[in-house]
Amino acid sequence: MHEEAAISHKDDLKDRPTPEQTGEAAIGKTLFIQTYGCQMNVYDSERMADVLRPLGYSSVDKPDQANLVVLNTCHIREKATEKVYSEIGRLKAHKDAMALTGDKMTIAIAGCVAQAEGEEIMRRAPAVDLVVGPQAYHKLPELIARAARASGERLETSFEAVEKFDALPTLRTPDGPSAFLSVQEGCDKFCTFCVVPYTRGAEYSRPVDPIIQEARGLAQQGVREITLLGQNVNAYHGQGPALAGPETWSLAQLVRHLAKIGGIERIRYTTSHPSDMDDDLIEAHGEVKELMPYLHLPVQSGSNKILKAMNRKHSVESYLDSIAKVRKARPDIALASDFIVGFPGETEQDFEDTMELVRAVGYAGAYSFKYSKRPGTPASEMYGQVASEVADDRLQRLQALILEQQRAFNATKVGETFDVLFTGKGRNEGQILGRSPWLQSVHVAGPDRLIGQLHSVRIIGTMPNSLTGELVMAS
Ligand code: 5AD
Ligand code: SF4
Repeated sequence: MHEEAAISHKDDLKDRPTPEQTGEAAIGKTLFIQTYGCQMNVYDSERMADVLRPLGYSSVDKPDQANLVVLNTCHIREKATEKVYSEIGRLKAHKDAMALTGDKMTIAIAGCVAQAEGEEIMRRAPAVDLVVGPQAYHKLPELIARAARASGERLETSFEAVEKFDALPTLRTPDGPSAFLSVQEGCDKFCTFCVVPYTRGAEYSRPVDPIIQEARGLAQQGVREITLLGQNVNAYHGQGPALAGPETWSLAQLVRHLAKIGGIERIRYTTSHPSDMDDDLIEAHGEVKELMPYLHLPVQSGSNKILKAMNRKHSVESYLDSIAKVRKARPDIALASDFIVGFPGETEQDFEDTMELVRAVGYAGAYSFKYSKRPGTPASEMYGQVASEVADDRLQRLQALILEQQRAFNATKVGETFDVLFTGKGRNEGQILGRSPWLQSVHVAGPDRLIGQLHSVRIIGTMPNSLTGELVMAS
């Protein structure tokens, strides 16, 4: 069964709502897949159409005007490669015609010919934008997103945004003495479970000058604590100050500079990726007193096999190494993380490795999630999806361990005296609420006039998620 078949996944559309109903018309990208060869390729083409749908591609039955054309090739026939080249030639004519009207056609070569001769094709046929071998279809969304970015195009996807996973706080006007300041957006990491690289686009860092200006403005309005925000904030590499020339600044440089602004007494940043935790930033934790001793560094899993399947680009060992360095620089640092349990292929042993990592690190707190399938992301197509009850059970066990560690961490603060930044009224009359350097909530009996200020507090007790303390009067 090696007949050539041109498959155009029109049928996929028949049971779906119309573009007008779904709002997809606004995205309106068209896909044409030409399938050559065996049944395996027919199956693969269907899978490709499935993973591309959330990127806004709907199938059409002619390549002439398609925004994405995939040639799913077969090597079995004689002259297969030559056929591919002549098809690319025909497509190039359409691609050029579309370019004249401002439209774009992306040409992708998939299948066995791509596998065998990918590099040669890219070299000989510049009209081809990407080549993807049969082992890498799960990477297609990433490859398409990268090709779109390389050509300066913004990918409008139909990935539904689930606030829980990809939203950052967006508070702009300060709400009291603590404010968020956005310094970076987007992500280039393409973890296989995550929609952010598609929904938020490529990594972008704001230039230093407007960030400094905004921070000064916030300080003038009474802000004492700023949290630098970014989906991948420690990958920050913004254009340095205009006066300093064309250099870019790292997050560590930005932090050191912001710390000099009068009124800014505390700096935090969130959220980070382990592979961007460079030595300069680690040293800043030891040197910049305004940089608070709290680090949210998501690890996701304690199993290297799962980290690899997640495309995390770090290992358990490299993560533990960073943690050790940060602790050396700032021994009292509070560590937090994100975890996903029930990722496809996670065995009981993999999960146990995660528990072991948690025991080894000792967290001050952590967010843990049950893996949730996001259509269009590579992980949603992976084998070995974990049963919901199994994932629930693992989540419970992990959360119990994290809670135990959080309580233990809070208990270490009893009897200590440190500055608390008061942010608002407490739950009961006569109480005010503040934040410790380690991001714990602290309840204190005290007057409202302290709200907005830092004041020394002695910790006298703990509650499940917070501390209680008393004001230390200046002698
Ligand atoms: N399923 C479960 N958790 C997810 N996260 C992101 N995507 C998913 C998903 N598909 C979690 C990760 C990330 C945090 C913001 O949300 O742990 O670090
Ligand atoms: Fe998503 Fe974070 Fe991975 Fe980027 S680094 S893809 S935002 S989980």
